[in-house]
Amino acid sequence: MGKSYKIAVMPGDGTGPEVTVEAVKVLNAAAEKFGFKLDLTEFDFGGERYKRTGETLPDSAIEELRKFDSILLGAIGHPDVAPGILEKGILLKARFELDQYINLRPVKLYPGVETPLKDKGPDDVDFVVVRENTGGLYTGTGGFSMKGTAEEVAVQSAVYTRFMVDRCLKYAFEYARKYGKKARDKGDNNTLALSGKTNVLTYVYDLWERAFHEMGEKDYPDIVREYYHVDATCMWFVKNPEWFDVIVTGNMFGDIITDLGAMIQGGMGIAAGGNLNPEGVSMFEPIGGSAPKYTGKGVINPLAAICAGQMMLETLGEDEAAIKIEDSVKFVTANKLKSMQAGRMGYSTSAVGDLVAEAVAG
Ligand code: IPM
Ligand code: MN
Repeated sequence: MGKSYKIAVMPGDGTGPEVTVEAVKVLNAAAEKFGFKLDLTEFDFGGERYKRTGETLPDSAIEELRKFDSILLGAIGHPDVAPGILEKGILLKARFELDQYINLRPVKLYPGVETPLKDKGPDDVDFVVVRENTGGLYTGTGGFSMKGTAEEVAVQSAVYTRFMVDRCLKYAFEYARKYGKKARDKGDNNTLALSGKTNVLTYVYDLWERAFHEMGEKDYPDIVREYYHVDATCMWFVKNPEWFDVIVTGNMFGDIITDLGAMIQGGMGIAAGGNLNPEGVSMFEPIGGSAPKYTGKGVINPLAAICAGQMMLETLGEDEAAIKIEDSVKFVTANKLKSMQAGRMGYSTSAVGDLVAEAVAG
């Protein structure tokens, strides 16, 4: 008998529950096929619960979540709740309290998926962003003074310690060594690119750049180091995405460039990410939002949630099952779906889940 994993499932708001059901369907098919067990526990944190109880993600829930092997998240965000409350109270709280200091976001164009980039295909759009996930502008360091007056001051600081930068860089270098494209092709050296803004953010990205080169020189001489300003990174994502392999960056820049990344890989319907604590409990999510206007219609694309489940299995060490899910998603994008967009797939949400689950089982 294979291993058994305790998984916390947080479907959340809007279309979150619909796509989570499909991810679970595919995960169960993989468990059956590859002989491991998934012990799922559902939690109802999200907008509805907040409206009912005023509770976002209480400290007791954090303690509860620590006992799981992994967390699968649907989506957080509710049209009746002011922006920031659920994001900060649930998503960011989980990331911070569980110290999920890496946000791993693959940008892979699967076969048959349309990209807005002219003349680019799956071989060109195939890289990974390692976004630092607990520091920078997201620490909430700052405040107002003289709020509401004509002299109002607002400050929000990008906070990074050497420790935070080093642990993120270490993860990124290791990732580049293990999963870099060149390692897959057994060709040249793998590349890790730092995306920063050393020409303006001369403190924070100076720290990142120094730490990057020091660590690279000392511990990862086999990895080629590149540097791009964040604005130029966006430019090259569009013009020459094939240049990238593994990219490491701070929290805010990582947030921004991975939305662009999601678009060039075919949209939010297919983009997944993992909030990782390599020493603790990680949380996987489709990176799109709760899409309220599509809620309950059965038209939302579940592939991003399914890919989040695939990343979860990879992190748990179920590599064979993860590869099978990825291959099944590729089969479905290449041969079945008309579009990645909600309502245009040519199938309902649950039919897409069925297609992937059948391919996994087959
Ligand atoms: C993301 C989201 C979140 C972020 C929001 C919802 C707080 O945009 O996961 O990229 O900024 O990290
Ligand atoms: Mn974002």
